[in-house]
Parts: sequence; structure tokens; C-alpha cells
Amino acid sequence: MDLTQRLAGKTAIVTAAAQGIGRAVAERLMAEGANVHASDLNGDVLSTLKGAEISTLDASDSSAVSAYFEQFDRVDIVVHAVGYVHHGDIEECSLEDWRRSCSITLDSAFFVLGAAIPKMKTNGGSIITIGSVASSTKGFPKRVAYGATKAGVLGLTKAVAADYLHQGIRCNSVCPGTVDSPSLRGRIGVLAETMGSLEEAEKYFIDRQPAGRFGTPDEIAGLCAFLASDDGAFMTGQIVNIDGGITI
Ligand SMILES: NC(=O)c1ccc[n+]([C@@H]2O[C@H](COP(=O)([O-])OP(=O)(O)OC[C@H]3O[C@@H](n4cnc5c(N)ncnc54)[C@H](O)[C@@H]3O)[C@@H](O)[C@H]2O)c1
Repeated sequence: MDLTQRLAGKTAIVTAAAQGIGRAVAERLMAEGANVHASDLNGDVLSTLKGAEISTLDASDSSAVSAYFEQFDRVDIVVHAVGYVHHGDIEECSLEDWRRSCSITLDSAFFVLGAAIPKMKTNGGSIITIGSVASSTKGFPKRVAYGATKAGVLGLTKAVAADYLHQGIRCNSVCPGTVDSPSLRGRIGVLAETMGSLEEAEKYFIDRQPAGRFGTPDEIAGLCAFLASDDGAFMTGQIVNIDGGITI
């Protein structure tokens, strides 16, 4: 792909950048010219990402996130990709599961966006949260904590967009359907234990997609790059589904 350098000179922060969507976003933003600061809880896997400034960071740790952002005078782009999938309905979701889901998925977004905003006020910028169609958009079986916390991410995104529109800060949420990532492969593996085979478990997830296939992290990254760039300058507060037809 012949990419433009539409993000040249931009400072971009990408969380959960070790693998899956976050990693593809970090690579795409770099390919389009941004200076990418990539972080993840898993520093070992993140260390294989070349070309970015990398840091081990637990985005659900408020103090760690504040300390991380101190290094920046100016931030232009934030893509917050941290999220946690708990599998279960409300009877199968313990208080611990619920709190963990809230902490990783929703608290982390509150911390990262809250730390980024003061660094974006002077020059403006673009924030992208990675939401999900499993949220206030659509209910899925066994996604009670995940759907609730991603709905929170969507609400946070819209509220931030409303508050900072006049300071040149845009805030949108990219909401994927099922995307082929390491954690998805893990979920398929777990489901295979009850369904009997990996093929059956994979088919269960693919059948949720009218397009008949998983999305790729690169497809999600392309949309994030658009929203990060001035090509997306007229978009803010939007919940953008990229889901192989789930929400047609
Ligand atoms: N894969 C999908 O089908 C899908 C669909 C919709 C939305 N999403 C969302 O996309 C995002 C990325 O998911 P994925 O499946 O591409 O990646 P993944 O789940 O395979 O990887 C997630 C990464 O997040 C990191 N991480 C976990 N907790 C963290 C924390 N507290 N602080 C910092 N990093 C942390 C992990 O170390 C890992 O590198 C998540 O928010 C997920 O909810 C994924």
C-alpha cells in the first residue's frame, strides 16, 4: 500500500500496542509519519514493536498513567485500545469479574483521556477510543461486563467530544465487530473446550459476522488513521462501527 505521510510531525500515543488492534494502529500511524509512543502492560511482547518509543504501562493504574504523560509537552493523537473481555452472563459475573472489567476497560479510558486532554488543549488533536459493537450498540450473549464497560467508553467518548470541541480536540470511538487478534484466538480456544473442536468454536464467532469472516487489525488501523488525520477533521463524537455487517 502506498501510504501518505498525512501524520508527519504528529506525536501519537497508542495504548495496548503490543498485539492485535493496538499494534496494527501503532504500525499504521508510524507508516503515515507519526512519532508513535506505544505502551502496553506486556513489555516483553511490546519490545518486538520496532520504530516506536515503547513503555511498559498499566493503563488501569491512575498514578502510572499520570507519570507517563508527564514526558509530553504536546500530544496530537491518542488511540486508546485497552480492553478486557469477560465471558459470562450476569449470574456468571462475580463482583471481582465486574470490577476487573470496569478497571481495565473503563477506568483506563478515564485515566488516559484525562491525562491527554491538558496536552492537547493548545494545538488541538484527535482522540480515538477502541469501543466495540458489543456495547450500548448491540447486546451479545455472555458479554454482560464487556458490553456494559464498552457502553461506558462510548458515553465517555461523546462527553469528551462535547466538552472539548471548541478547543480543537476531536474524540471518536471506533467500534469493531470480531477481529482476528491473539485474545480472540484465546477465546476460541476456551470455547473449543465446551464445543468439542477449534473449528466449531471458530465457526461460532464467524457466524456472528454477516460478512462471513473476521475483521483484520489492519482494517481497524486504517479507520483510526483516517480519524487521527485532518481527513477526519469534521468528525467528532461519532461511534463508528466497523463490523462486517453486524449492525446493518
Ligand atoms: N478482537 C476483537 O474481536 C475486538 C472486537 C471489538 C473490540 N475490540 C477491542 O479492541 C481492543 C484491542 O483488542 P485486541 O483483541 O485487538 O487485542 P488483544 O486483546 O489481543 O490485546 C490486548 C492488549 O492489551 C494489553 N493490555 C491488557 N490490559 C492492559 C492494561 N491494563 N494496560 C495496558 N495494556 C493492557 C495486553 O497486554 C495486550 O497486549 C480492546 O479494547 C478490545 O476490547 C476487540
